[in-house]
Amino acid sequence: MKVDVLLGLQWGDEGKGKVVDVLTPDYDIVARFQGGPNAGHTLEFDDKKYVLRSIPSGIFQENTVNVIGNGVVLDPVLFQEEAQALEASGVDIKKNLKISKKVHLIMPTHRLLDAANEKAKGGNKIGTTGKGIGPTYTDKISRNGLRLGDTLKNFPEKYAAARDRHMSMLAALGETPDISALEEKWLKAIEYLKEFELIDSEHAINRALVQGKKVLCEGAQGTMLDIDFGSYPFVTSSNTITAGACTGLGVAPNKIGDVYGIFKAYCTRVGSGPFPTELFDETGKKIRDIGHEYGAVTGRERRCGWVDLVALKYAIMLNGVTKLIMMKSDVLDGFDEVKACTAYEIDGRITDEFPFSIEDGTITPVYETLPGWKQDLTGYEDYESMPERFKEYVNFLESKLGVPIVILSVGPDRKQTIRR
Ligand code: GDP
Ligand code: IMO
Ligand code: MG
Repeated sequence: MKVDVLLGLQWGDEGKGKVVDVLTPDYDIVARFQGGPNAGHTLEFDDKKYVLRSIPSGIFQENTVNVIGNGVVLDPVLFQEEAQALEASGVDIKKNLKISKKVHLIMPTHRLLDAANEKAKGGNKIGTTGKGIGPTYTDKISRNGLRLGDTLKNFPEKYAAARDRHMSMLAALGETPDISALEEKWLKAIEYLKEFELIDSEHAINRALVQGKKVLCEGAQGTMLDIDFGSYPFVTSSNTITAGACTGLGVAPNKIGDVYGIFKAYCTRVGSGPFPTELFDETGKKIRDIGHEYGAVTGRERRCGWVDLVALKYAIMLNGVTKLIMMKSDVLDGFDEVKACTAYEIDGRITDEFPFSIEDGTITPVYETLPGWKQDLTGYEDYESMPERFKEYVNFLESKLGVPIVILSVGPDRKQTIRR
């Protein structure tokens, strides 16, 4: 068997959590492969809403095993809060969740360093989620990180060495925080983490594939936030693309099956950085209001704009997307016209190839305009009966992107999902 991968094609928050939850009954295992609690994946069903940060979105299906893979960075305190909230709502989390011993641990000092780095950048700040993601991955790459498996042996010494190193880095940035309370909570949360089954997830996943089990890899963030191919430096610190599933789970490239690429019918971004199709007018505000475009974790206002097909095509190429999923179609229900950016004008030249830099002010988007469908999509259950003008929009996007759109989402609830 091969693994399927589901990941975001834009700047995150495409609706990955909802769709992973919808697809989970088709899978035996759902695995996260990168990112950490910077993610906020929302699921809605039975009139209840859940936001998952580190725990895979397959956790609500009783017979699915969920895995946090080695590519993830885990904050023990936030994990404990999230896991205990799920336990309280009746999820048998200790049975259905397994964690790689190779995940890197986010320490309290990583979060403090994240904040201090942002402060030092001043007006050029990334607008991070403040969860310590950058500093934790920095420690991983510079071979200074602490892994969950490291807590099993000589941990106090390893922890103290890492903390002291961070404290001197903080001091160099002018910060001398008292971390004793944070530290105490964190060390308690480590003990809670040890109550879970800590595994060698690369072996577990590959063994499952040999046994014919079906595995879905759940991406976090989105392709345009990828450390290599996103709008650097305004990106996150991991590879959010399909290749990240290989390194973040120990799955070989020839074991990748279908790649589900997920995008909104428009586009959003949270935090700093360029966004060529951003709308600063009433239309942008209307999308934000109707789409409730506020961060699932930070509550920050998301910047809104039209769908960017230049960026989407780039994302499809980088990820080897075989199937597309379009989310939040219903948010555009009330618009007279719907626009899609089909090319960029750069220095008087028109191109549909994503350039080295999309720095603010260097790109003028070229739009095609389609008539709006002006009907409420939220109650539809099958594609055939949907409004013709909506189908025209879907066919237009498909023809430009060259990959079939197989799922359409018309509302936040699990049930508001149309397979095509
Ligand atoms: P993720 O990070 O990719 O999982 O996405 P988020 O959970 O951060 O953001 C997606 C938001 O859109 C959540 O509030 C979802 O409940 C909501 N949502 C998902 N699909 C739809 C949809 O088709 N229509 C509407 N109106 N909302 C949706
Ligand atoms: P999900 O999985 C949207 C953004 C931050 C910031 C940049 C770097 O819910 O789609 P970081 O804390 O990772 O160092 O921040 O990346 N960002 C996200 N934006 N959705 C996310 O996750 C994000 N995770 C990080 O806003 O611009
Ligand atoms: Mg999100």
